[in-house]
Amino acid sequence: MEKVIEQKFYHPSAEVVANATVKDYESLYTYSIENREKFWGEQAETLQWYKKWDNVLDDSNPPFYKWFVGAKTNIIQNALDRHQNTAIRNKLALIWEGEPGDLRTFSYHALNREVCQFANVLKSMGVKKGDVVTIYMPQIPEQLFAMLACAKIGAAHSVVYGGFSHEALADRINDANSRVVITADGGFRRGKIVELKSVVNKAMELSPTMEICITVKRTGQDVYMENDRDYWYHDLKALPIAGYKCETEQMDSGDMLFLLYTSGSTGKPKALVHTHGGFSVYTSTTYRMVFDIKPEDRYWCAADPGWITGHSYIVYGPLMNGATIMLYEGAPNHPYPDRWWKMIDKYGINILYTSPTAIRGLMRFGESWPKRNDLSSLRLLGSVGEPINPEAWKWYHKYIGQERCPIMDTWWQTETGGFMISPLPITPLKPGSATKPFFGNEVAVVDDHGIDVKPGEEGSLVIKSPWPGMTAGVYNDPNRFVDTYWSKYKAQGWYFTGDSAKCDEDGYFWIIGRVDDVIKVSGYRLGTAEIESVMVSHPYVAEAAAIAVPHELKGNGIHIFVILKKGFDGSKELETEMVNFVAEHMGPIARPEEVKVVDSLPKTRSGKIMRRVLKARVLGLPEGDLSTLEE
Ligand code: WTA
Repeated sequence: MEKVIEQKFYHPSAEVVANATVKDYESLYTYSIENREKFWGEQAETLQWYKKWDNVLDDSNPPFYKWFVGAKTNIIQNALDRHQNTAIRNKLALIWEGEPGDLRTFSYHALNREVCQFANVLKSMGVKKGDVVTIYMPQIPEQLFAMLACAKIGAAHSVVYGGFSHEALADRINDANSRVVITADGGFRRGKIVELKSVVNKAMELSPTMEICITVKRTGQDVYMENDRDYWYHDLKALPIAGYKCETEQMDSGDMLFLLYTSGSTGKPKALVHTHGGFSVYTSTTYRMVFDIKPEDRYWCAADPGWITGHSYIVYGPLMNGATIMLYEGAPNHPYPDRWWKMIDKYGINILYTSPTAIRGLMRFGESWPKRNDLSSLRLLGSVGEPINPEAWKWYHKYIGQERCPIMDTWWQTETGGFMISPLPITPLKPGSATKPFFGNEVAVVDDHGIDVKPGEEGSLVIKSPWPGMTAGVYNDPNRFVDTYWSKYKAQGWYFTGDSAKCDEDGYFWIIGRVDDVIKVSGYRLGTAEIESVMVSHPYVAEAAAIAVPHELKGNGIHIFVILKKGFDGSKELETEMVNFVAEHMGPIARPEEVKVVDSLPKTRSGKIMRRVLKARVLGLPEGDLSTLEE
């Protein structure tokens, strides 16, 4: 058994403790477990509602839990509308810097006007309550306006990460039956233009449902547009229909706010549904308590808005708390490796929330880069997406947080909507541990029978009780929702996370990684099934098996083993071509480290590929129990 890595505590400073809103974790945690519905009802009271709930929780049909039943709301009521009547109206909502250095800022008042205009444009294109609008954009302010505009008029947004290929985009458009897509001509990344509109054009050819494309001008290069299908956003925005006022649609608490596609263990990516009521309460509460946001704070979550982290903690959680958000378009090391540190200095950022991959990537340039900037404004740091290795944690703590800033290592998932296990600023930290469950959550590490494993032993991470941020299900596929998350511990009625973990003697959780066929590459979630189906679409390939192998920067790298069709021979050139093939058809994020041609794949008698054997071979480790191997 591997040993838990470090047991030394990093205690918060007296100043952090003195300024913290939640000063006693244990007693509030106990209260939240013993009075779960009361606790969440109290948190919900901090928001505005058109009509309050009859019931905090309806658990009569598990796992289809319903939160704030009977309530009328819209997340926009709390993210934008209510701030228009307070001093927050004149506060900065958004500071945005483009990669070339251009700057745009919006007060809450200005943001509201932009969102109303965008909402009116969408309405004029026939978008209505219940529709799904696909957003495929660079990290520019309009990406946020588009998301918020959809929510405002009751349409669900489905944001597709700009690093995905036209095929991946088309799959998501078609699955969601989306009629309208919002994009930009391109975005800037590492000094180059990332083409987006041309990708959308190709995706539209594969999509029978797509009728309208709205394009924001960002880069200004020529793009192909078709009459009656393509519209420039700036043209639509100039029309009289795009006024600065727009009524916010009143939604039921359980109405869909957004879809977000994510990879699972089998088949194509699935869309998880999040709703207006539960998601509002969960993200506003977790954000307020974990990042302990103060009115004067400037907060920067350096994730992509196209990821759940962006939805919950760039856009909705912060806006509901009236925070000032920073957004940056481009690469962290462009033109120099201190681009991020420069922006922290320039804008006086107080909270930085990012991923272990990004930290490792910047760490390799050395501490001279952060050192030449003034990072004294920082108060808190955050990490998300994969386990943070203690070495990266310590570097982040020492050179970015200057040993002053606690690191909130937040464990959660697209499915959970918000933080599930996380420190608070007052929590004594251990590098590499996400520490303790958030309020209301009963979390455990169990064996295959649901029995708690001993402290320090590895087991499956489960969540034993419902929480308001939980997904309402898989879009149009209730069975898949039940099968994927609720069947492993069906008798107990627990949610299975797909992660393995340990819990130590202090009750601190240590996440180890995925136990299903999901690969986390630079924090992005990819399914082996998806990667393999792209690989076998190569004309020479008969069979493929994808595995994750630890990678110094990315956390995991993808390795693919292929068997060629009869009559084809392997070569170095072919293997390189196949690497490019996967990157081209899935998107650059899925570029494999290696594609290797083999004569056979290790399989069980029932024909299942034994991935652990392949992994052991790559790593040069013992292959373990081969009794089920069919030679
Ligand atoms: C992993 C990201 C360790 C985990 C918000 C989870 C983490 C998956 C952490 C969900 C963390 C996320 N420590 N592992 N702090 N945060 N993970 O849906 O394996 O993109 O199941 O959501 O990321 O990935 P997703």
